[in-house]
Amino acid sequence: MSVSTPTNTSPDAATIAVVRSVDELRQWVAGQRAEGAGIGLVPTMGALHEGHLSLVELAACDGYAVVMSIFVNPTQFGPSEDFDAYPRDEARDLELAEASGVACVFAPPPSEIYPEGFSTNISISGPSGGLEGAARPSHFDGVATVVAKLLLAVRPDRAVFGAKDAQQLAVIRRLVTDLHLDDLDLVEAPTIREADGLAMSSRNRYLGDEDRRAALALSRGLFAATALADAGETRASALVGAARNELDLEPRCDVEYVALVDAEHFTSIDRLTTRSARLCMAARVGPARLIDNVPLTASP
Ligand code: PAF
Repeated sequence: MSVSTPTNTSPDAATIAVVRSVDELRQWVAGQRAEGAGIGLVPTMGALHEGHLSLVELAACDGYAVVMSIFVNPTQFGPSEDFDAYPRDEARDLELAEASGVACVFAPPPSEIYPEGFSTNISISGPSGGLEGAARPSHFDGVATVVAKLLLAVRPDRAVFGAKDAQQLAVIRRLVTDLHLDDLDLVEAPTIREADGLAMSSRNRYLGDEDRRAALALSRGLFAATALADAGETRASALVGAARNELDLEPRCDVEYVALVDAEHFTSIDRLTTRSARLCMAARVGPARLIDNVPLTASP
């Protein structure tokens, strides 16, 4: 595979374009638009896995040219979180991005996104209050701010985010609605799992063999609750209890939360109804903090 240099922004280049500045990015997008292409955006922090590549496939529907951003966003990490340790391997990411059909990678340095004097913070209340928002104060401010910047830099027709980060998606939906980004098609991509059920995540790389095995308690818990819901159970206490039970059986899992929430507002609910809900969980397994969720609705 050959990767273009940062200055190669030609939309006609046979190889993937890699751009580092918003100006180069906009030039590249303008070139695509001039040729009549729609633009799909896949925001990532790199350390790509099959889950990301499934987002690319959705972004590329209808022949859209896909821009992938690769940026480990410092403002969404708390002071004691894994910003420094977060896996970074740009050469590998570019190879995978190109092989999956990405046309342009936007991989800016931090100073391009947060230049000297940067003072804007996008803070979204509502769906960002509980769960991840409570556990990671200011996390969603960092996500909302960088996603707003990416959307304004690229102005895509479509942007794709994974359901694995369901609360993030609810926050971004709020952002898109509140800022009247009405022309944007915001696409939710289903969670991609390993054959044994573990949800794909860049942070799975932190897991040693024993922790990798222990981490299966998360998906086991979610599947147990799903089976119960499919059998007609609607009480949150029973669904959360079934999921929690699997986590509690695994000594290497340190549970942070298990909760049944309304899928739009991310507030706790007592019972499943016909409205979309999510059963969400977070647990520490060895060095990794893992989150996972499943969609649930009352069976008819
Ligand atoms: O989901 C992620 O990888 C990040 O939160 C995102 C959306 C790329 C923003 O940094």
